[in-house]
Amino acid sequence: PRVNAKVDPTQCIGCELCVQLCPDVFGMEDNLATVIVDVIAPDLEAACRDCASQCPVSAIVLSE
Ligand code: F3S
Repeated sequence: PRVNAKVDPTQCIGCELCVQLCPDVFGMEDNLATVIVDVIAPDLEAACRDCASQCPVSAIVLSE
């Protein structure tokens, strides 16, 4: 399955945890996280799920 990720800019507090855990998927822009890929590569999906569950404000939304 193909997984897409989004960061809700109204929720993100810029803690950068996701960027540290998953630098191939997330980047920072104007102090908020942003998704830098269109589709999560299959080998990054597990890490991405971790990011989504560990984000302190649940700003990362995965859709599949
Ligand atoms: Fe923002 Fe959550 Fe990442 S607060 S910087 S989306 S871990």
